[in-house]
Amino acid sequence: MINNRRYLGNKYKLLPFITKVINEECGKIESVADIFAGTGAVASAFTNKTIITNDLMYSNFICNLAWFSPQSYDPKLIIDYIVYYNAISNFDDNYMTKKFADTYFSYNDCSKIGFIREDIERNYKLKKINERERAILLTSLLYAMDKIAKTCGHYDAYRKGVEFTSTIELSVLLAKIENRLENKCFNKDANELVRDISVDLVYIDPPYNSRQYCDAYHLLENVARWEKPEVYGVARKMNRDNIKSKYCTKDATNVFEDLIKNIKSKYIVFSYNNMSNKGNDRSNAKISDEDIMRILKNKGDVKIFSESYKAFSAGKSNIQNNAERLFLCTCFSEVK
Ligand SMILES: C[S@@+](CC[C@H](N)C(=O)[O-])C[C@H]1O[C@@H](n2cnc3c(N)ncnc32)[C@H](O)[C@@H]1O
Repeated sequence: MINNRRYLGNKYKLLPFITKVINEECGKIESVADIFAGTGAVASAFTNKTIITNDLMYSNFICNLAWFSPQSYDPKLIIDYIVYYNAISNFDDNYMTKKFADTYFSYNDCSKIGFIREDIERNYKLKKINERERAILLTSLLYAMDKIAKTCGHYDAYRKGVEFTSTIELSVLLAKIENRLENKCFNKDANELVRDISVDLVYIDPPYNSRQYCDAYHLLENVARWEKPEVYGVARKMNRDNIKSKYCTKDATNVFEDLIKNIKSKYIVFSYNNMSNKGNDRSNAKISDEDIMRILKNKGDVKIFSESYKAFSAGKSNIQNNAERLFLCTCFSEVK
């Protein structure tokens, strides 16, 4: 299942709200681009249309490729690999044991993760599995890691002094074998991507505060990339300079304005939380409502919809029942 992952800002639970607004307010739509796709939850609600997904993080790109790539795959091959991986009982040293043993995972689970990751790459290079099969196996590994990691849902720290209770077990992903041949998955900065695509609807769900996703999910990104970098500090993070998002900085308003200006679509649907000045500093929204309205109104007619939900809250600020807002912009000029 696509919601088999804990992910900050995951919109899975909001899909009924998002699809209702789109179905009721937008005309005929044949193609949808989810350009800050994260887990791919929103794209998954549009599999009867042509889907474009994109995310700055390679780990998310891999998950989106697993779910939406037009390339077909052999389900029997996937099952055979998963059965083989789950039966591993030799625990040798590797990159994962050296850098992460007894932190987020036990020594044995690190050994297994390192072995499986290496094996997937080897079989891909030997052409025993295709790009989609590689992505599906990798996604199964990332989901399985996320299920047992000794964290509070993100990898800014691991929980010390807590027993390792469960061991890693991969599940078979139930991804559609034949997706639409026009589907495309990207791993780019959204501002670059929109310059190259033209679709009926663009869904925008950027980070809204200063929490960088590459900080929260560095370990999944590290394993997905498998460049075996040096890691630092208690949280054992790798260098993440090239995957920091400008949407988490004081440049957020400018990059948002640039993004909207360069979009070529009939509709833009934009999710943005209203935590502005309500939580602690780190959770304050980076783009003000005034700027959002000014920028969107330059592009088309704007309507706002809202639905109440419980905010993710790790620690002190305990803000409940925030309204999740959806801005719908019907663009002035159809550049298509
Ligand atoms: C709020 S999350 C999206 C959640 C997603 N809608 C879901 O349901 O899982 C924001 C995502 O934007 C990605 N991101 C941040 N800056 C980006 C950029 N400049 N271009 C593309 N993706 C970016 C992050 O990696 C993160 O996955």
